[in-house]
Amino acid sequence: MPTTTIDLFRFQPDHSDEPYRQQFELEHEEGVTVLDALLQLQNEQDGTIAMRYSCRSAICGSCACKADGRTVLACMEQIEEVKARSGGGTVTIDPIGNFAPLKDLIVDLDPFWEKFKAVKPYLIPDGPAPDKERIVPKEAMQKIEKEAACILCAACYSECNSLAADPEFVGPAAFAWGHRFAGDVRDGERKERVKLYSGDHGVWDCTRCMYCNERCPKGVDPRDAIEKLGGIAFQEGVTSDTGARHAKAFLISMRTGGKLNETLLVPYTDPIKAQLDVPFALKMLMKGKAPSPIPHRVEGLKEVKHLVKNVKEEV
Ligand code: SF4
Ligand code: FES
Repeated sequence: MPTTTIDLFRFQPDHSDEPYRQQFELEHEEGVTVLDALLQLQNEQDGTIAMRYSCRSAICGSCACKADGRTVLACMEQIEEVKARSGGGTVTIDPIGNFAPLKDLIVDLDPFWEKFKAVKPYLIPDGPAPDKERIVPKEAMQKIEKEAACILCAACYSECNSLAADPEFVGPAAFAWGHRFAGDVRDGERKERVKLYSGDHGVWDCTRCMYCNERCPKGVDPRDAIEKLGGIAFQEGVTSDTGARHAKAFLISMRTGGKLNETLLVPYTDPIKAQLDVPFALKMLMKGKAPSPIPHRVEGLKEVKHLVKNVKEEV
């Protein structure tokens, strides 16, 4: 049987205010999951090890943790997979990131649930209840199918760079649920929803690091959902936020010149800041450090315009 050294994050607030690390040598069966290994440690070596779990089948979303720095579902990831990724040797296990630890691998998820509730993760009908079942066409449901697969494990929050920079950022899973309902043809509050999801800490504050897409164990692709919410905001005319204006300036650049015109971005995104920055911008222009504000037109602008049009029709 293989033996693995497990380097575990420990935090036992009943005994100490300071977290510490503890190493265990574990002889285990081939193919055990991180959760199996933790339970074996708990049964055989230290009954005080604390973690959340329930289904043991990647369904309930309660066992997310970090294995060698990467957020995983403990019941889905095999110890050997973690070792293969890290080049063998010791497996480090930590609680998920961006949440305060309460005890060992258990973290305080209250902020996660608050944000989830804040996006109104339920259908708000567009009128009185119909007198017979309302059948939604398959194609319409397929547009929100991915988001409906979310199991609320918070792995995406653990990896979210925007959340690390701004703890009030609403976050990937909540926005995935936001799109689950904003994109539902039966919902009556599409515009109100995108207004709610814009503004400070909203969809435009995502840094597009894509880690949420990469680490989501259910293929929800929350970053894509955030992007789709941005598209709905445009369709509904909710475009006064700084982030939306920035995106619009990008689009205008593409349509008029076929490539990004950086000089246009600042005045369009934040006109007040742009006025304050005029002397600095002029100095940069004179030193050849800023592109000309006169739109440059690329060869093949017609094709770029076609592309922009096609993308618009896809949303
Ligand atoms: Fe977990 Fe994915 Fe849902 Fe985030 S979007 S909570 S990673 S299932
Ligand atoms: Fe339920 Fe891992 S124990 S998802």
